[in-house]
Amino acid sequence: MYTITLKPVGSTIACGPEESVLAAILRSGASVMFGCRGGGCGTCKMRLTSGQIAHGRCSAAVLLAEEKKCGRFLSCQARALSDLTIELSAANKYHVLRSWRRLSLLDC
Ligand code: FES
Repeated sequence: MYTITLKPVGSTIACGPEESVLAAILRSGASVMFGCRGGGCGTCKMRLTSGQIAHGRCSAAVLLAEEKKCGRFLSCQARALSDLTIELSAANKYHVLRSWRRLSLLDC
């Protein structure tokens, strides 16, 4: 089991080696944006700031090689290979904060 830290929220969640990053986030009760869950739409894109992932199957049309070099990944396809720190997009930060406040997982 690995730990995923979501920035800038700062909360951590657990992620099993066989589940996608998106599945781990959704299992935690957080709400983030996603679409096809098949690596084809790019809606679930996030940015890795530390740690290692396996990208999995994703369309080169929605995740460019340059984006991969900058740490972007498709959370519906990516698997954690270590503890991760992930930077949420502004839209996903809003979704996470709203859902975790509803679940009383945050103090603020
Ligand atoms: S939800 Fe469509 S690529 Fe991840």
